[in-house]
Amino acid sequence: MTFRANMGVGRHGWLRLTPAYGVRLVRERIAHLPAGSVITDPFSGTGTTPLAAAELGHLGQSVDVNPFLIWLGRAKVRHYTAGELLDTVDAGQQVASLALATDRDADLWQPTLFKIEKWWSVGNLHALKVLRAAIDSYGDSPRDLMDVAFCRTLIARSNAAFNHQSMSFKDPSGEGLVFDVSEVEATVATFTHELAHVVESAQFDLSGEGEIHLGDSREGFSNIKEADLVLTSPPYVNRMSYIRELRPYMYWLGYLDIASDAGDLDWRAIGGTWGTATSKLNSWTPEVETPIDDQIAVVTAKIAADGGKNGPLLATYVHKYHHDMWQHFTAIKNAVKVGGSVSYIIGNSTFYKHEVPAHQWYADMLKALGFENVEIETIRKRNSNKALFEYDVRGVRM
Ligand SMILES: C[S@@+](CC[C@H](N)C(=O)[O-])C[C@H]1O[C@@H](n2cnc3c(N)ncnc32)[C@H](O)[C@@H]1O
Repeated sequence: MTFRANMGVGRHGWLRLTPAYGVRLVRERIAHLPAGSVITDPFSGTGTTPLAAAELGHLGQSVDVNPFLIWLGRAKVRHYTAGELLDTVDAGQQVASLALATDRDADLWQPTLFKIEKWWSVGNLHALKVLRAAIDSYGDSPRDLMDVAFCRTLIARSNAAFNHQSMSFKDPSGEGLVFDVSEVEATVATFTHELAHVVESAQFDLSGEGEIHLGDSREGFSNIKEADLVLTSPPYVNRMSYIRELRPYMYWLGYLDIASDAGDLDWRAIGGTWGTATSKLNSWTPEVETPIDDQIAVVTAKIAADGGKNGPLLATYVHKYHHDMWQHFTAIKNAVKVGGSVSYIIGNSTFYKHEVPAHQWYADMLKALGFENVEIETIRKRNSNKALFEYDVRGVRM
């Protein structure tokens, strides 16, 4: 693989998150910075920003509430020695042989993912279980890259279509209920192939550094350096749940065990609405006032009036989202150098045809905090809905 090709995809392609913003946009936004700059992403996701920053010789720091994404981000920004990569290749071969040799009746751990038989056929599930057990017998360094390959494998061999947020399943034909040894072989072959791909992209070392922190971006940023640039794609106001999409990885890698954990984690995520996070909204009350409360009240009154039974809940959702973002902006201000900038890539949304202009409200909140040169650039139209756009909301800390 050439350096150019690696710069195009490489580690960035390890695992995708549907709403992940493009590495191209990140590179464009940081191109003007001198090497060694500090770039912070308070909503790390799959770690696109810290990885792109580290590739270009900067310090990329990021924060996320989701421990699985912390693990993934750290695996993506690590410097791997040649020795570690060789150990990983050896370990991968042993794991594959063991997986092929393990008896189908072996008593193995499987995740408590709801209706797991919909996700994988009997043969594929058996192969994933033996791969999982074998990978777990290794220490962190070979295990991390094997885990990335494992995640890629479980998607490649699943009945679920991962290319869409709604995650549809192939019609179960009945054949998947019978143990088919060729599926075990195919799953193990997929793992071997994916591991080779992951190891190859890990070979290209990063000229800068990446640091990924577990934390809540509404609270302080004590453990990170002040940024020259804060660049991020925060959650949108669209009830999209990251946990929902990440569930299969999180269960298989041990980051989720019982369904209520997913709801608890999503409640801590800004804009989260998975499971119990929705019912908790019913009794939510604001902790702080925001400078845009009046504007929020005008729009949420319309949503509450026109949304029927769900109207009041969605009105609260929109209020809480911006309340949480206000807490975030207040906290991030002190983590930006004087003269440094912020750049939020955010979309607006609509509820019952009423626009929630998150981009304008972001700009208002930044201005209220004393940011200067606050401006909104329209980046693109988002989809077939004529009203939806993606914006870059920027400002400079004074
Ligand atoms: C749109 S995604 C970021 C996508 C990322 N730019 C990428 O390319 O993968 C938003 C992220 O914010 C995280 N998040 C939500 N609430 C948070 C909070 N309070 N503190 C830190 N991270 C949070 C979510 O877990 C999710 O990973």
